[in-house]
Amino acid sequence: MASLRGGSMTELLSWHDEWCIGIDWVDADHHEMAMRINRLSDAVNAALDDDRDGEAKSLVLRRMDELIKHIRAHFAVEEDFLRRIAYPAYEGHCRAHYMEVAELIDLRRALAGDSADELDLEMLADIKRWFFNHVIAEDRAYADYYRSLPQDSAPE
Ligand SMILES: [Fe+2]
Ligand SMILES: [Fe+2]
Repeated sequence: MASLRGGSMTELLSWHDEWCIGIDWVDADHHEMAMRINRLSDAVNAALDDDRDGEAKSLVLRRMDELIKHIRAHFAVEEDFLRRIAYPAYEGHCRAHYMEVAELIDLRRALAGDSADELDLEMLADIKRWFFNHVIAEDRAYADYYRSLPQDSAPE
């Protein structure tokens, strides 16, 4: 069984309006992503406080599955949008998405494994870092491109 390291509570992600990239449905998805990361955080904190493993850990896995599901759906819609606006960095952006999901799935697999020692605050820090990179850097680049398009050629 995984040993649960750590013990101190992690900070939750509170949404900042500067994180908005100015495309409503994208911002709504990102907002929901932050909320799901917070739910995962709560579950990890509960599991770290409770060394009896079992239930607390299965909640972590469930929250992780929900987060991955949301992220996959978001990426699919985003990639479709990028294709429709003929985003020049489309392939690189999709590759980044692919690698990000693969990392989360690896993490999920490690958490589920009996010998895993992955459930700690570092994991949450990694997921938050990933989130900032996606929301603040990668997606901002396509939002800038989208805004540079002539209005009548830009799909919603
Ligand atoms: Fe993206
Ligand atoms: Fe995104």
